[in-house]
Parts: sequence; C-alpha cells; structure tokens
Amino acid sequence: MATGKVCIDGEIVDTAEARVPVLDRGFLYGDSVFEVYRTYGGVPFAEKEHLERLSRSADCLMISMPVSIDALASEVRATLAAAGEGEWYVRVMITRGTGPLTYDPTTASSPLRVIIVAPITPYPRELYEHGASVVLLNASRPTDDARAAGAKASNYLANLLAVHEAKQKGAQEAIVLGRRGQLLEGASSNLFVVKDGVIRTPKPEPGILVGITRATVLEVCAREGLTVEETELHPPDLYDADEAFITSSIREVMPVVVADGRSIGDGTPGPLTKRLRRGYLGAVAAGTGAAV
Ligand code: PDD
Repeated sequence: MATGKVCIDGEIVDTAEARVPVLDRGFLYGDSVFEVYRTYGGVPFAEKEHLERLSRSADCLMISMPVSIDALASEVRATLAAAGEGEWYVRVMITRGTGPLTYDPTTASSPLRVIIVAPITPYPRELYEHGASVVLLNASRPTDDARAAGAKASNYLANLLAVHEAKQKGAQEAIVLGRRGQLLEGASSNLFVVKDGVIRTPKPEPGILVGITRATVLEVCAREGLTVEETELHPPDLYDADEAFITSSIREVMPVVVADGRSIGDGTPGPLTKRLRRGYLGAVAAGTGAAV
C-alpha cells in the first residue's frame, strides 16, 4: 500500500523513519508555518500560490525561509517522485528551528523544513451529493489577532478542538465566529453563502485565512459573470441563505445544507454550489492537465 514519503531539510526518508529533533520549536510550541495542498494526476494544484503564502506566513511570524520557493517546489517534486504513482496530500512545514528551552523566538536558529507526502483521504462522496452539516462556535485562535493575522501557523489546537465539538454535535465542520459575532471561516475551510443569486463570503480580516481554493472560486465567479460580495456576514446570513458551501484544497467545494441543526435552503446542495464545484474542477483540470 502506498505510504508516501517525507523530506526533512532536503533528505527523503520513509514516513515511518522520519524524525525531527525534540528541541525543535515546531514540535515544542507549534512555532512553525505550513501549507496543505494536493495532487491531481500526480501534479500539485496551485503549488506556487501555496508556497508563496507559506513564505508570507513565515515572514509574518519572523521565521526566515531556509530555501527559496523554487527549491522547496523541487524538493516537493522529488518527494512525490520517491512516493511513486498515486494521488497525494502534500504538507509543507517550516519551523523556527531548535534552541534553548525558552519561549523567546530570537533564541532559535536554523529553521527546519519538512515535506510530508501522504496518500489522499478523500471526503465521503455523500458530503458532495447530499451536503455537509456545520455548527457555529466561538474559538479564539492565535491567528485571530493582528500580530499573526493571515499567517497559516501550525498551532491548530483551537481549530482541532472546534472540529471535535462539531463532530460531537453530528456536524462535519465548525464555523468560527469573530469578536463581533461575525462569521469568519471554518476550522479548516472558507465559507460562502448564496442569497438571491449573489455569492457572499467573509471579507479578508484578522481571523480569516485567505484560502487558495476561495481565490480560485472567486476567479470562477468572475469568469462566469456571477455577482460576488466579500463582506461581513452574521449567523442569519447563513441560516437564511438559499445555499452555502465551504472550500479548502482538500475539500474543494463542499455543499453545506445544515447549520446548527437548521436546513439551509431546501436542505440539498444548491445549483450555484454545484456550478461552482464544476467550475473549480475545471480550473484544476486546466492547472494540472488531469482529467477530474
Ligand atoms: N487548511 N481556513 C483555514 C483555517 C484552513 O486551515 C484552510 C485550509 C482554509 C482553506 O485554505 P485553502 O483553500 O488554501 O486550502 C481556510 C488546510 C486544508 C488544512 O489545514 O488542512
């Protein structure tokens, strides 16, 4: 069975053999940044956009990039080649490196880079055919405030606890609320609603990761002449929507039909959601040459 490969500071190893130093700050404190994307037909989609965001995240958190984006892309390519045939989940991480056991980030040296290539675990088909359920909840995350805003930092404790709460309530994703009670994003996704033919999504602000999938969907909207609003949304905007969907590199475009136990629209994936999922997959096919 394909198990994938790991590349640590340029050295490719089997996943089971992969090791990082216990004094690495990424291991100790989540003091690192990361990106997640996937392959289609073995070809990474939107890799340049992801690695550019990784570089911005590192810059935001004062972590120096150990190698160039092109060098990272080459290491991903080599790790994919070593993993062999198949469809792959790609996680690229840059930690602040090792140092004394202090929180002061200036004491660390030599950032560590880790590339994990793992078999893709697709989301269940029924979530696309029948739609997903979400719950709304408060979850204060490190990237919700100005200092780390916009960075994709590895410290996902608040996100994973939110996912746990969602699962306990029978939902598949948690939608995080901001300090004004506004809708921000999912624990690992961006949120869109559709009302009277207008596609609306929370405007970029601290607490929102400006997703690559979100950006691709907005490009599809523009290409198809659909009206889009990047604005502030509140729970009624989701509860009373005609349609809703969430986006991420692994989910792609996933319909949402229930929020806090209330049906959205007629409780089935909406026509614009289906159209935008097709449009997104069209962009993937154009970007990778894969038949999706
Ligand atoms: N993250 N918001 C958050 C908090 C996320 O973690 C993600 C995705 C997104 C969507 O971003 P993108 O479209 O660039 O994948 C939004 C990845 C999938 C993850 O954490 O696994």
